[in-house]
Amino acid sequence: MSATLFDESERILQLRKELHEHNYRYYVLNQPTIGDQEFDFLMHELQDLEARHPDMFDANSPTQRVGSDLNPEFRQVEHRYPMLSLSNTYSEQDVREWYESVNKGLAGEDFEVCCEMKYDGLSISLTYVDGRLTQAVTRGDGVHGDDVTANVRTIRAIPLVLPGEGYPHEFEIRGEILMPWAVFERLNKEREAAEEPLFANPRNAASGTLKSLDTRVVASRQLDAYLYYLLGSELPAEGHYENLEAARRWGFKISEGMRKVKTVEEILEFINYWDVERKNLPVATDGIVLKVNSLRQQRSLGYTAKSPRWAIAYKFKAERECTRLLEVTYQVGRTGAVTPVANMEPVQLAGTTVKRATLNNEDFIRSFDLHIGDYVYVEKGGEIIPKIVGVDIDQRPIIAQQVQFIKRCPECGTPLVRYDGEAAWYCPNDAGCPPQIKGRIEHFIARKAMNIDSLGPETVDEYFRRGLIKNVADLYDIDVQQINGDGSRTKSAQKLVNAIQESKKVPFERVVFALGIRFVGETSARLLARHFKNIDALMNAGLVELQEVEGIGEVMAKSIISYFHDEKNRAIVERLRGYGLQMALSESQTAAASDRLAGKSIVISGVFAHHSRDEYKLLIEQHGGKNVGSISGKTSFILAGENMGPSKLEKAQKLGVAIVSEDEFLKMIEN
Ligand code: IVH
Repeated sequence: MSATLFDESERILQLRKELHEHNYRYYVLNQPTIGDQEFDFLMHELQDLEARHPDMFDANSPTQRVGSDLNPEFRQVEHRYPMLSLSNTYSEQDVREWYESVNKGLAGEDFEVCCEMKYDGLSISLTYVDGRLTQAVTRGDGVHGDDVTANVRTIRAIPLVLPGEGYPHEFEIRGEILMPWAVFERLNKEREAAEEPLFANPRNAASGTLKSLDTRVVASRQLDAYLYYLLGSELPAEGHYENLEAARRWGFKISEGMRKVKTVEEILEFINYWDVERKNLPVATDGIVLKVNSLRQQRSLGYTAKSPRWAIAYKFKAERECTRLLEVTYQVGRTGAVTPVANMEPVQLAGTTVKRATLNNEDFIRSFDLHIGDYVYVEKGGEIIPKIVGVDIDQRPIIAQQVQFIKRCPECGTPLVRYDGEAAWYCPNDAGCPPQIKGRIEHFIARKAMNIDSLGPETVDEYFRRGLIKNVADLYDIDVQQINGDGSRTKSAQKLVNAIQESKKVPFERVVFALGIRFVGETSARLLARHFKNIDALMNAGLVELQEVEGIGEVMAKSIISYFHDEKNRAIVERLRGYGLQMALSESQTAAASDRLAGKSIVISGVFAHHSRDEYKLLIEQHGGKNVGSISGKTSFILAGENMGPSKLEKAQKLGVAIVSEDEFLKMIEN
């Protein structure tokens, strides 16, 4: 080996060590010693070196935190120790009873209780061998869970290689993966702008994220993790608390709030303190967990069929307040859907001042027989958006006016319409109603659509008011001078115009999504683009043709037809085409390479070494085959990578469907 090669491999090991250390200081201890820029610099150096030394690949390298699109469908694995849940209690009385039952179970022996936060995320079990993360498994049904190791490796709060020392050769540590409130709120804002369904709470968001098949998505979501349970045959201490303190020294993120107490009064004090203080924590908690500290006593108390006798969860009450309904206002969305909003006398709830709550739709208002001036109960549990859960009829003013859903659009005065089978009322004036116009433009420029990121909602609003843009096509007409009204913003104006020009390269499938056809989300847009291949075929497709596309149902098909039936929309599409936007799949996407797979239905499963799944889908299509989602008697063969799911394997064997490896497949389509 030459001198430089040797130096470089040394440098790789050194950089990995340093970066693990900085990562630990930043994400676990919250005490960084270098700046972001310096960190990025070291990371880039490592990435470059690793690219030149593929033989030195290490799944636990800090560079692996960024993720890749090579990801398995999750393999199911059996837990070495089953993951049990805890029984829940809701009152001081319950806690006292549990304490007494422990006392009795231990025949009056002294005992200590470890009090901890109950984190409201999703539980994870991590295995470490020789200080390196080897496996991360979700709870699943408690006996089997999903192997989500690749995704978990991207979570910065979870050490890949332990920075501390003194840990056992092998152990498991369990804890909770969480999405911090701040990240959750930002994510939902982005989703709202892109008209994607919102996550109800950080737990759902974290769980949706962890199940993503693309580790890069997980890496981008900034998940956090706290660990609270150490398992193994050679643990450092005889007490649960002491074990966690040891784990903290090894490099794990353990709650600061954990306390060891003796009496039930101390337990209640802990509960009452955190019931208030938890509102200042960066992540969601929904209770307190109480654990008998001594492992020997835990063993002696044992388990019921479902949960340990030595531990219990006390759940905080969902907070509920009563306040007065002052007024109902109405919001108009991009699609014209009108949402009623309750405006209430401000009230303190779960740490924030609440004065508005959604009323969903007309039926919801009817179900409570809401009257203006009513006292309503507002609740905020795990959900960020407060809900109205009831009305106190006894407090209704003698003369009170029943809430009547509006008949005309609050923004443009057009009479509202209600479509068959839908709960919402709509403003049909899509061409003239300002929030609909602005909403469509905001959708068009969103990251997942045309990605014109230097243009935000405020700017859209400003340009709309200044009359610069009335529809999405107008964007491509504006020039630097127009934007730069008072001449003070030449640079940002130029940047924006460049970004708009750049968007002309955005692929056809995202253009279809950007049009904002009702019900057509990102995935449907891709399916439509791939199927019809160009805008003319899509515009002229009939109901039957549209429904032939896998994943497109009647409602969506009708919506697409009605969109293109509208002269105004066709005119916009024509203008966009004129400006040079991509109105067809690119050549590389359409070029039929061969017809070797003609007539074949192929299922893709597992992880691949040479191409991503999306690339394989495309290759199948380019060679005349069809990619289908599930195995049936009609499946020609399965293109199987590593770690193909066991249920798929079983099904394939049962139906006698052939399994083709990645290399065999590549040979099949080779020229
Ligand atoms: S201990 C056998 N400690 O709550 C005891 N669990 O219903 C194992 N949880 O599935 C769990 N915070 O996801 C424990 N400090 C904490 C916890 C905690 C949250 C979750 C965990 C578990 C569920 C229990």
